[in-house]
Amino acid sequence: MKYWKSCLAALLLLVATPFAASAQTVKVGLILSYSGQGASIGDLMDKAVKLYIKQHEKDLPAGVKLEIIRRDDTGPNPEVARRLAQELITREKVDFLAGLIYTPNAMAVASLATEAKVPTIVMNAGTSVIVRRSPYIARVSFTMWQSAYPLGKWAAQQSGVKRAYTAVTDYGPGHDSEAAFTKAFTESGGQMVGSVRMPLQNPDFIPFLQRVKDEKPDVLFVFVPAGKVATALMKAYNDLGLAQAGIKLIGQGDIVPDEELPNMGDAPTGIVTVHHYSASADRPQNKAFVAAWKKEYGADSTPSFYSVASWDGMAAIFHTIKAQNGKLDADKTMALLKGWQNPDSPRGPITIDKDTRDIIQNEYIRRLERVNGKLTNVEFETIPQVKDPWVQFNPPQ
Ligand code: PHB
Repeated sequence: MKYWKSCLAALLLLVATPFAASAQTVKVGLILSYSGQGASIGDLMDKAVKLYIKQHEKDLPAGVKLEIIRRDDTGPNPEVARRLAQELITREKVDFLAGLIYTPNAMAVASLATEAKVPTIVMNAGTSVIVRRSPYIARVSFTMWQSAYPLGKWAAQQSGVKRAYTAVTDYGPGHDSEAAFTKAFTESGGQMVGSVRMPLQNPDFIPFLQRVKDEKPDVLFVFVPAGKVATALMKAYNDLGLAQAGIKLIGQGDIVPDEELPNMGDAPTGIVTVHHYSASADRPQNKAFVAAWKKEYGADSTPSFYSVASWDGMAAIFHTIKAQNGKLDADKTMALLKGWQNPDSPRGPITIDKDTRDIIQNEYIRRLERVNGKLTNVEFETIPQVKDPWVQFNPPQ
């Protein structure tokens, strides 16, 4: 009896082995903020990753499994992000790193991506230089220059304002935003009358905006790193009565993220921003995306620009897995990412620039309006297929 049992076990092993050998698990180390100042951003990115997988897992090659290994960087915290990336690479042996909301975190991970040859998909961080820090980084989100530069031109040429002030969070994306807006605005005939930089951690916006109010510019350009911070900024703008003082507010989409609009009750309508995504856009691909989102997460949940980047980031990852039949080679993966296109992104057609590994996408000029009583970013002009303008002014050495 014992003999037959062991014969059966051996037979089962023999039958099962070919399947076991062909089963392939692709591991993605997803570094997001699940706590701290970016927790609401991380949540909306994670939800997009989950929804993408739910809809598309069936498209993976037979026998290929996807495993998402989640890690919480707790906010703009480069030491934590680097430690987590190290652990994901050495212990978990991930095939991809992904996520990365904040620029300092993406910068901290870059050299590890290079040393270990781990393709790294930046799903939010927007400082231009990030993609230059590692040949294993591709960005599916945006750059600050991509929106602030066209906004500066539009403000000087088409909105009738002459004197501008900038107020930005004092770190990479804030510095890029300030430089891009200032260059475009002054090149187009506008005049800068002041600039302030505000702290990244626990900012109190009132003293900074008070200085702006005292200077009485026509327009205030602001960058803050989205999420709940954007609503705090809007509250300070309202509480100080800047709109009533005749100081228009403009910025990138980061100051009016779609999911925070319901919390910005008193925000004055008419705020113009430039960005690559509005949840209210009526492209069919976006309508389908928002409908699927609301079905999954409820009518009160709204995908934001970070959700769309995470969604597209998963589409890019899936593309490389399918093209390699689940057996990933880092250099082949990077080659597949270069020039990758998605004509059906909810934000409009996108391409990963084959030379820079950075995103090329439409930028939309939008106005904050009340639609059916709800604050909405309404797109009214499209700037097609914008490459990062920073590259043109800072060519690779
Ligand atoms: C960044 O740290 O690069 C960053 C964070 C939040 C944003 C934009 C950029 O909304």
